[in-house]
Amino acid sequence: MPDNSQQPSFPTASRERVLSGMRPTGALHLGHYHGALKNWTRLQHEMSCFYFVADWHALTTHYESREVIEKNVYEMVIDWLATGLDPNLCTMFLQSRIPEHAELFTLLSMGTPIGWLERVPTYKDQQEKLKDKDLSTYGFLGYPLLQAADILIYRAQHVPVGEDQASHVELTREVARRFNHLYGRESDFEVRLAASLEAIGKDSAKRFEKSRRQFQEAGDAKAFEGAMAFIANHPDLKADDKERLQGYFKGSGKSVLVEPQALLTQASRLPGLDGAKMSKSYNNTIAIREDKVAIEIKLKRMPTDPARVRRTDVGNPSRCPVWQFHKVYSDATTQAWVQQGCTSAGIGCLDCKQPIIDAVLLEQQPMLERAQPYIDNPTLVRDIIDAGTDTARKVARETMVDVRAAIGLNY
Ligand code: TRP
Ligand code: SF4
Repeated sequence: MPDNSQQPSFPTASRERVLSGMRPTGALHLGHYHGALKNWTRLQHEMSCFYFVADWHALTTHYESREVIEKNVYEMVIDWLATGLDPNLCTMFLQSRIPEHAELFTLLSMGTPIGWLERVPTYKDQQEKLKDKDLSTYGFLGYPLLQAADILIYRAQHVPVGEDQASHVELTREVARRFNHLYGRESDFEVRLAASLEAIGKDSAKRFEKSRRQFQEAGDAKAFEGAMAFIANHPDLKADDKERLQGYFKGSGKSVLVEPQALLTQASRLPGLDGAKMSKSYNNTIAIREDKVAIEIKLKRMPTDPARVRRTDVGNPSRCPVWQFHKVYSDATTQAWVQQGCTSAGIGCLDCKQPIIDAVLLEQQPMLERAQPYIDNPTLVRDIIDAGTDTARKVARETMVDVRAAIGLNY
């Protein structure tokens, strides 16, 4: 685990902040549910969570088919609400309504070497994979930097993402580090420092200076701990005074941007109907709000162990995608029944699939119920996004005030 202990805390965040986004390019499916949304819903009880519709990110690949995005923005939010995201527990918003993301992206782009972006693995991978699209664009190259801006503008400590996105969070950390290195000290740092020192009183300020020298010249750990505790517990200091004084003591300034950590969710354990990764482009998905009859048909048509041609042939679950579904949906008893029945030809493949059909429909029922009021009344969804966007915008604007000041753009 990278050392995170020196990260500043911010007055607005009593709980640690989580940020993540999703691209509105199609109906969400059970892969998204098991791979991401279950985790998002759990986190909303533990931390201050910000989740957003990454419509600009969708444009980087769908700039020639933007209707897809328009169609899916609010549909995706309904899917979120269906899986249990609760507007009373987390903040849901729309990226394009907060142009400050673009401002930070622009400012970060000035000092970001092109090589950093060309080396992000998803850049070449996606160009290879989406051959039908022309992705040799400036926007697509900049995709991970826009993502960095999304994260840094909320000073999020945690970013729940799949493994495929880990390199983007790593880039975000590098970008933050570089920014703090270049502009970390507020431009009027000396003036503000003097004011912060004044707030602790002349005598304490003298002692503070003395232990700072002991720490910086001799690495005196006791002096360090004593001073940190003194500042942290000082009743007359505001949070940003505390941060400035602690930063000064350590020899840095006040860090403007926070280096985030990836909260890696393992790749979804639920594969697609054909055993490959569940993905709309492979046509192997079950949508979160898929029609019940369609679910049954899709699961009944699901391929099985290719060696099991006739009912009387024995099968091997480890070669069968249906078994992967049992691993997610079935208890030990049912799993034992599958193993035994399959390897002895005691059960047929349709028998084997029935508990899955039942489990998927059972899992889906409460999601359909949660979605219905929003389908009946789309204004509710828009209101949730409007309110969430207002909350998010406030935080984004606060950060941008600091960012502009750090660069010295307040002439
Ligand atoms: N790139 C992410 C994806 O494709 C979506 C995204 C955009 C994101 N900005 C983000 C995720 C910021 C986490 C944080 O899944
Ligand atoms: Fe797959 Fe079940 Fe058929 Fe075995 S019995 S091949 S595990 S569907």
